[in-house]
Amino acid sequence: MKSNLIENIISYLVNVFESDQDRLNHTLSVRDMALKLGKIHSVDLFRLEVAALLHDFTKNESIDDAFEMAKKKFSEDELKQIPQGCLHAYSAAGKAELVFSIDDQEIIDAIIYHCTGRIFKSRVEQIVFISDYIEESRAFVDESLRDMAIKDLDLVTYHIFNNSVGYLEKKNRNVSALSKDALSYYKNKTEVINER
Ligand SMILES: [Fe+2]
Ligand SMILES: [Fe+2]
Repeated sequence: MKSNLIENIISYLVNVFESDQDRLNHTLSVRDMALKLGKIHSVDLFRLEVAALLHDFTKNESIDDAFEMAKKKFSEDELKQIPQGCLHAYSAAGKAELVFSIDDQEIIDAIIYHCTGRIFKSRVEQIVFISDYIEESRAFVDESLRDMAIKDLDLVTYHIFNNSVGYLEKKNRNVSALSKDALSYYKNKTEVINER
C-alpha cells in the first residue's frame, strides 16, 4: 500500500508535468533533499517523501482552480490572508486528500506550509520547507546553506526566512504573517542557542 502510493504519485506527476520538465525535476529534487535530510536528522522518510512529491503538484493550475480546490478545505477568510503565490500549497493539500486519500496531518501540514512557512510543528514540515529552498537545482542557493541544513535545521530555517522575507519586502510584495512570525521565532531561537 505504502510503496504503491509513492509509485502512483510519481506516475501522476510525470503525466501532469509532461510539458513542464523543470517542475518535475524540481519536485524530484525536493524529494531527494528531503530524504537526505530526513536520514541525517532521523525524521519519518515516508511522510517526507509523500509531502515533498505533492508539495507543488497543483502549481500549474489557474488561480481560479486553485481557489476552488482550496475552498473545499479552508475558509475564504483564511485564504484571503495567503499571498496569491502560495495559494497552490493550499490547493495541493486539498487535492492530496481528494486524489490520494492522504489523511496524515503531518503530511498535509507539510504541503500547506511549504510556501509561507510557519513556526513549524514537526520536523517533517520543516524539512520539506527547507528542501524546497535548497534543493540541488536551485542555482541561487549558496552551498553553505546546504551544509548548514546537515548540521542545524533551525539555523538554516532562520536564514531561509531571512532571505525570503527580505527579498519579498525589497520587491514590495505581500509577506504572510506566518512568515514574519516564523522569522522572529527562529531568529530568537537560534540567537539564544548560539549565545550559550
Ligand atoms: Fe510551492
Ligand atoms: Fe517547490
